[in-house]
Amino acid sequence: MGLLDGKVAFVTGAARGQGRSHARRLAEEGAGIIAIDACATPGWLSYDLASEADLARTVKEVEALGGAIIARRADVRDLGAVREVLDEGVAELGGRLDIVCANAAIISQPAPTWEIDLAQWRELVDVNLTGVFVTLKAAIPHMIAAGNGGSIALTSSGAALISGAGLGDYKVTKAGVLSLTRTLACELAEHFIRVNALCPTAVDTPMIQNETLYRSFRPDLENPGREDVKAGFQTMNLLPIPWVDPVDVSNAIVWLASDAARYITGITLPVDAGNALKH
Ligand SMILES: NC(=O)c1ccc[n+]([C@@H]2O[C@H](COP(=O)([O-])OP(=O)(O)OC[C@H]3O[C@@H](n4cnc5c(N)ncnc54)[C@H](O)[C@@H]3O)[C@@H](O)[C@H]2O)c1
Repeated sequence: MGLLDGKVAFVTGAARGQGRSHARRLAEEGAGIIAIDACATPGWLSYDLASEADLARTVKEVEALGGAIIARRADVRDLGAVREVLDEGVAELGGRLDIVCANAAIISQPAPTWEIDLAQWRELVDVNLTGVFVTLKAAIPHMIAAGNGGSIALTSSGAALISGAGLGDYKVTKAGVLSLTRTLACELAEHFIRVNALCPTAVDTPMIQNETLYRSFRPDLENPGREDVKAGFQTMNLLPIPWVDPVDVSNAIVWLASDAARYITGITLPVDAGNALKH
């Protein structure tokens, strides 16, 4: 018996990182999975996003756990494409949608806010904020129509809770996600659809584990790597760890989706090793 037997979950950005982990954990608990990922990288981004092969690996891993999964390449900014995948997935997985993980996002390079390129600002806000809106716009009607209530988990970031210079574009989108969480919690309570936000500290995924970030953390080294940035990341957390694992965030999502959290709505849940208290 899983905690989420018979339920259906929609996960965006599911080709790797936290999204893949969410798909795996939700499937382990018995949920059918509808998964999307853009599998394409904006030209200005300083690290590569996921590939179609990554999305295929998510499918394999979920199926190896005995889970059902419908996975398609789709961009969270494309309402028509997201609706199409959801219509197909909901029809194939039993006509219901119970859980939404609005997880897909991108991050920029730290820069003073007034120096951020305008086109880059627009694209990042489009993916991180409008993409969440599109995800919800496409998903919520299915949840209301099914009439089973549900759990929406929006991935914000610890970056939305702390002060500090740089990443003004990324932080404003993650702060926007927190505002959206509270508005939607109010709007959807009558349908017993609960809406909560997660604020992770650094998570061990390619969003932080990439050459550009290593170089910006350790400009003193010629070829910095994962081990060279650990100490720097660790200074950000209360608990003596550099980052959490994707599954730590997935476990919070499973809990929020389960009956154990049946009256929890509108909260901001840090999964942050004490990061917020350190600032
Ligand atoms: N990694 C961290 O340190 C960290 C910390 C706090 C919050 N977060 C947040 O966690 C979430 C997951 O990030 P992650 O750490 O797994 O990073 P990641 O880069 O490994 O995963 C993000 C996924 O989203 C996909 N994606 C990007 N743009 C998309 C689009 N327009 N449409 C559909 N899919 C798209 C990517 O291809 C990728 O598979 C994000 O919202 C991120 O902002 C990450």
